[in-house]
Amino acid sequence: MCGIFGYTGKQSATPVILEALKSLEYRGYDSAGIAVIDGSKPISIARKKGKLSDLENYMQEVPLPDSFSGIGHTRWATHGAPSDMNAHPHTSYSGSVVVAHNGIVENHNSLRFELKSRGRNILSETDSEVIAHLLEEHISKGLSLKNAVSQVCSLLEGSQSFVAMSQYEPGVIVGVRLGNAGGLVIGFKKDEAMIASDVVALLPHTQKVAYLANRQVVQITENTITAFSLDGDEINLDVSDLSQDIESVHRGQYEHLMLKEIMDQPEALSDTIQSLVSVDPTYLNLEGIQGLDVALSKIKHVVLLGMGTSFHAALIGRCYIEKMTGLPTDVINASEFRNRQVALPPETLLVSISQSGETVDVLEAMNIAKEKGVVQITVSNSVNAQTSRVADGVIYTRAGVERGVASTKTFTTSIAALYLLALRLSEIQGHLTQEEIQAHVLDLIRVPALIEEQLQDLDNLKVLAKKISIFDHFLFLGRGNTLPIALEGALKMKEVSYIHAEGYPAGEMKHGPIALIDDSFPTFALAGKHSLRTKTSSNIEQILARNGKVFALLTEGDYELKGIVDEAIFMPETTELLEPFVATIAVQCLAYYVAYERGCEIDQPRNLAKTVTVE
Ligand code: AGP
Repeated sequence: MCGIFGYTGKQSATPVILEALKSLEYRGYDSAGIAVIDGSKPISIARKKGKLSDLENYMQEVPLPDSFSGIGHTRWATHGAPSDMNAHPHTSYSGSVVVAHNGIVENHNSLRFELKSRGRNILSETDSEVIAHLLEEHISKGLSLKNAVSQVCSLLEGSQSFVAMSQYEPGVIVGVRLGNAGGLVIGFKKDEAMIASDVVALLPHTQKVAYLANRQVVQITENTITAFSLDGDEINLDVSDLSQDIESVHRGQYEHLMLKEIMDQPEALSDTIQSLVSVDPTYLNLEGIQGLDVALSKIKHVVLLGMGTSFHAALIGRCYIEKMTGLPTDVINASEFRNRQVALPPETLLVSISQSGETVDVLEAMNIAKEKGVVQITVSNSVNAQTSRVADGVIYTRAGVERGVASTKTFTTSIAALYLLALRLSEIQGHLTQEEIQAHVLDLIRVPALIEEQLQDLDNLKVLAKKISIFDHFLFLGRGNTLPIALEGALKMKEVSYIHAEGYPAGEMKHGPIALIDDSFPTFALAGKHSLRTKTSSNIEQILARNGKVFALLTEGDYELKGIVDEAIFMPETTELLEPFVATIAVQCLAYYVAYERGCEIDQPRNLAKTVTVE
């Protein structure tokens, strides 16, 4: 949450920072701001409540002076409502230090109190502003910006990262990461250096990046990038080459990122599957968990965890692991994992799913599990992100950068990765035969083409979306493998269309939710061939008998069930284990087109941000 960017080099800083903030805006769009430093002149700042476009408009009237270094911020508000005053960057009492911050200063109240007692005037309601004042106090005692940052970090509680500039060191930007709330990644380029909270902001400039680890400080100038521990020891950064295509992160021909990323799925899935299996001969090739064979052969129990869409991927993962390995498998919401005393016997495998690899609740749960010494595998779409550093093994999905706040392609690629992990576990534990494993792999390989075809024929779905866009409440029902897709469909619907939607096991209806049913409270039933169709069709009848409207997702050719529901759309026929893929495509598209009909801001839904790095 919150996007941070810092630039120092030979280009005019403001346009570079603005461009970068555009790609980081998915992290928060409550306000935005830029601070630039121009030699001996005071630091100049432009900050505006609202979206980046509001800041741009403002800067057309009140432009910032030309400068070669600066920092910028897009905000997802935690402390203090969105306003010009609460927008970052924040300045110190004399205006000589600026800070752009992500995360939470948990002890900001006591720091605020102490600063006030020393006569500092605090202008905003944010937790972040105290950092700027503390930095100036330390710099005024003769410390460099970098040393002041290290000292101030010892006063801050909570998980956070920030970048800072001082008027006394023009051209220098210092960044620091404390804890799991928000990573920082540094971009290397000749005569330029930059620092961002997501690699996506660096891609137009460079493919050479290094991630800052917890409790590391970095100082960048146009010619140097130097990293230190908080104790001041210099450390070597692990520079990697991203080889990522900037075009793939743009909207292209599509009106919204969400639609583009839905349409990316055949390719994303194909890339992911190809990176994890070899065909001809067919075998599993999960390099990132290679060295764990002995440990995995001893596993007796699996726990999966994630948040939001990744939690739903974990639920699908459970179906796969149970089916393919017979191992007892639990799924736990990562934030609740921390609130419980989860028993993790030594033969437990913990599988975390986080497309960003930065979600703070997942990281905290992983750290707890690490203390208990269990084997950990993480599924992530972000190379070298924090989760992959905590886990013993990692399975990377190859979805490409996902910028839409609503996760789409990272969900289907994560479940593909979990399907292959389940097969590998089964192989190691000798549960399925090689022939069975190969057959399952070949089934999965067919999925991208199946989805490609499905995505080419959305006309009926669009008509249905128009009809259902008038309702304000919705129930999504599923059973077995498609229950997680009902939950995911409801989440997508809430998130992008603001329709109140709930996902339920179809069998649960008569235990309470059916009381909600009338002609204004419709149901969307996932009743494909493999979604325990016969049992679900009885639940559909029960709803219809109570004047409830039923829309259904059926397997191609199921005219019998189509005949009894109000409206139906079809999905292609596939195997039982792969039905969640095609069902997902349908619910994602439905949510998108319903939101479109309702005129929602699909790529920037209110109150949300893409990467959740605060608790
Ligand atoms: C879903 O559309 C959301 N973007 C959200 O639920 C997301 O899946 C969740 O925040 C987890 O993110 P992660 O995969 O990066 O950990």
